[in-house]
Amino acid sequence: MSTVKQNLARSAELAGSDSARLDVEVLLGHVLGRPRTWLYTWPEYELTVAEQGQFDALLARRHSGEPVAHLTGEREFWSLPLKVDASTLIPRPETELLVETALELCPQQQLRALDLGTGTGAIALALASERPGWQIVAAERSADAARLAEENRRSLGFDNVQIVRSDWFAQIAPQVFELIVSNPPYIDAADPHLEQGDVRFEPRSALVADREGLADIEHIAVRSVEFLTAGGWLLVEHGWQQAAAVRDIFAAAGFHNVESREDFSGWERLTLGQK
Ligand SMILES: C[S@@+](CC[C@H](N)C(=O)[O-])C[C@H]1O[C@@H](n2cnc3c(N)ncnc32)[C@H](O)[C@@H]1O
Repeated sequence: MSTVKQNLARSAELAGSDSARLDVEVLLGHVLGRPRTWLYTWPEYELTVAEQGQFDALLARRHSGEPVAHLTGEREFWSLPLKVDASTLIPRPETELLVETALELCPQQQLRALDLGTGTGAIALALASERPGWQIVAAERSADAARLAEENRRSLGFDNVQIVRSDWFAQIAPQVFELIVSNPPYIDAADPHLEQGDVRFEPRSALVADREGLADIEHIAVRSVEFLTAGGWLLVEHGWQQAAAVRDIFAAAGFHNVESREDFSGWERLTLGQK
């Protein structure tokens, strides 16, 4: 059997991953039921046969490209531990920009918000964690993803979030919101990135949209006008090359104060507008 230290050194086996060391730390911590810092406190701990077998199996799956979050079944978003699976997108750190911006634009403690394409529930649950007084509807078309979001909602205990199955606005009862947020599918079907990395293991229904990736964003912008109060905000995440096109879509739909915001890598990945 090998020690923690020897197993950590096996990150060299994951040469194809740009986060090899972190991947090994997370998988080893998951197998041992310990935080990553523990691995450096107890480098000489020798894994049991069962632990070693489990770690070897996970490392082999990671080697064949499976996302770490699918192997552990969990991903942290906005410091919330979220259950993840193959039914939807693994929440990305850059989506925290959307949460941050929504909180900045809407400081009020009472508000009605709608999260379209909620997936794991990441955005809706992050907003709920910061604003317990908000009433948040989180819509999702995929039955499996909606079940996952509901499981996350329940385990985090956010009673102010309602998960509903809906094809964008189709099953949302007529009502108005002060805030609509969405991280919809926005990748073009021909984008070669779909054949690389974690996205190979995520459903196309969470990633791909028609018309060079802009069809869902356009649908959301056009229909949002009916569901927003005067002065209400729409915030949408999009691809790094789509900001200008999304601003045009927002303007054509009648939004004011349209602007895009940069993520921590300096790419315009979020566009907002006010009704
Ligand atoms: C890019 S993922 C975002 C998931 C989550 N909001 C996040 O940020 O991690 C897009 C989500 O939209 C959902 N979706 C796709 N088409 C939809 C539609 N027509 N109506 C509602 N949800 C849809 C997908 O199933 C997926 O969960």
